[in-house]
Amino acid sequence: MNDKLQQTKAMLAKHHKDGEAFVQLMKETYTGRFNEDFWALWNAQIASKFGDSPVIVDLGTGPGEFLRDVIQRHPAARVIGVECAEYMLQAANDELPEGCEIIAADLHDPHLPLDDNSVDAVVASVVLHEMHQPVRTMQEMQRCLKPGGLFYVMDWVRAPLQQYLADAELDVFDRNTPLDELEDLFIHFIEHNRFSIDDLEFMLQNTGFKVLEKTPLKNGQMARLLVEKR
Ligand SMILES: C[S@@+](CC[C@H](N)C(=O)[O-])C[C@H]1O[C@@H](n2cnc3c(N)ncnc32)[C@H](O)[C@@H]1O
Repeated sequence: MNDKLQQTKAMLAKHHKDGEAFVQLMKETYTGRFNEDFWALWNAQIASKFGDSPVIVDLGTGPGEFLRDVIQRHPAARVIGVECAEYMLQAANDELPEGCEIIAADLHDPHLPLDDNSVDAVVASVVLHEMHQPVRTMQEMQRCLKPGGLFYVMDWVRAPLQQYLADAELDVFDRNTPLDELEDLFIHFIEHNRFSIDDLEFMLQNTGFKVLEKTPLKNGQMARLLVEKR
């Protein structure tokens, strides 16, 4: 294993803490991310542009819930998940439906076995904030997407602490709050505050995409962007 991949895996293991528990958390919270609003956008603005057998890529697919959902909706599609954490790869490969495949790759500098201009849609759900930089991923998606192909990005974005704490179950100012939980919340606050919504837009614009939609979510703690390959 090369040094960079090892570093990425170590960084993710630290961020996810208990791999098995994080797999479960991603499964349990999946329908919150891929909710009615998501599927409304998917149907109206993404799937409506598909031909007979679209190619769909899910970056940082985790346990692969989206792969299973999307192949059910589009049985003739080729659906590809990209992932590098071992526990996620294992969960995603469990009962992988026909028509779906997994590519094990580090998104920090991906060279995916996909042809230029061959992909119809790419999804990156809460992935980019886990990366040192998402520029190479954006450039690789720009290479793989067809002209006019769509890239959906949904992620945590920078928000002030008070705003970030609005949904926290922990009272950080209570002296009885356990130290571990207090520290965990502040560590996640920093990790979730990597890029602002404007940073994501700026990077996408500079890697060959036109922004079609840019929407703050969850009291401005998260955002979704839909961009098109220029
Ligand atoms: C928070 S989870 C989200 C999983 C899924 N996209 C969802 O919304 O249910 C982020 C996923 O991205 C993966 N990931 C993060 N950085 C990555 C990288 N550099 N290369 C490949 N996968 C990465 C993590 O291992 C994890 O499975």
